[in-house]
Amino acid sequence: MKILSIETSCDETSAAVTENGRKLLSVVTASQVDEHRLYGGVVPEIASRRHVEAITQVCDTALSEANVALAGVDAIAVTVGPGLIGALLVGVNFAKGVSTSTGLPLIPVHHVKAHVAANYLAHPDLTPPFLCLTASGGHTLVLNVSTYTDLQLIGTTIDDAAGEAFDKAARAMGFPYPGGVFIDSAAKDGDPDKYKLPIPHTSGEFDFSFSGLKTAVLNTINTAKQRGDTLDVPSLAASFRKTAVASLTAKLLEAARKLGSTTIVLSGGVAANELLRSKLSAECGSRGYRLYYPPLSLCGDNAAMVGAAGYFEYLAGNIGGANTDAFAELAI
Ligand code: KG4
Ligand code: ZN
Repeated sequence: MKILSIETSCDETSAAVTENGRKLLSVVTASQVDEHRLYGGVVPEIASRRHVEAITQVCDTALSEANVALAGVDAIAVTVGPGLIGALLVGVNFAKGVSTSTGLPLIPVHHVKAHVAANYLAHPDLTPPFLCLTASGGHTLVLNVSTYTDLQLIGTTIDDAAGEAFDKAARAMGFPYPGGVFIDSAAKDGDPDKYKLPIPHTSGEFDFSFSGLKTAVLNTINTAKQRGDTLDVPSLAASFRKTAVASLTAKLLEAARKLGSTTIVLSGGVAANELLRSKLSAECGSRGYRLYYPPLSLCGDNAAMVGAAGYFEYLAGNIGGANTDAFAELAI
């Protein structure tokens, strides 16, 4: 079964063609990041307008790169939420138009389920159940993935998302938006023990908190300025990365131990983090757990993951129609 899938929940206009949730035939992504960078973050109205301009071309190119005509596609999958509402509406309405004019079934997809499903494209042997950490600019979720379509929330952030904390700390250190990748690469040249940063306590056993860590970075920078000290940016990046990764790793491994999960999966933009990958590889190795994460190309927002998730939603009978809507917030 071939699916044309569409993702417009934030600042990437993306379309893909996938087969049976496991095979990626093409993915085309028009990123708006250079424009949003000028403002230090995503400007929702600009995002919506750029999606309107790009979506037809992005879908046409995805079909032609897969060597498939629209007549050769079996269904249309689209992200319906959570995300920026104006941005989501562009993809949802476009997909509904294609579905109405062709008669192809429309499959609504949850953005977080799509991030998890990126792993099905990359790892043919991966099947539920498993424990998944989805960490991005908007989410920090520990999920018990019991089937392809049933995911239970085990823990989440009580304030900032992990990616958001990376981006805010990066901005304070003078890196461009989105700064997660810049912290990751600057950290390689720094001393992770130079600056002592706190891992905030949360009352929820598997919950996270990142706003205190972000504030500690801001305080460190301000104190250095006031004292006239030179800030060691690579070491501050390394100290921040080490602390954020320690928090993510500790809660995830504790959840795995309590739930008896021996397969751990990472997804979302923060899954690209080198230290998170290497630290968890070592920790999982010593415990005899299996660890999976997507290739860098499938960590951030893309439509390939929407096609993978959409296939399993289709098999479960979760088909949309004329009343399919977009949702800024959407429970998993
Ligand atoms: O999944 P994604 O592309 O979009 C959302 O759904 O939010 O995630 C983007 C987030 C940004 O906060 C970005 O800074 C972060 O993922 N990110 C990273 C790295 N690469 C991207 N954070 C830490 N280390 C990285 N290497
Ligand atoms: Zn995302």
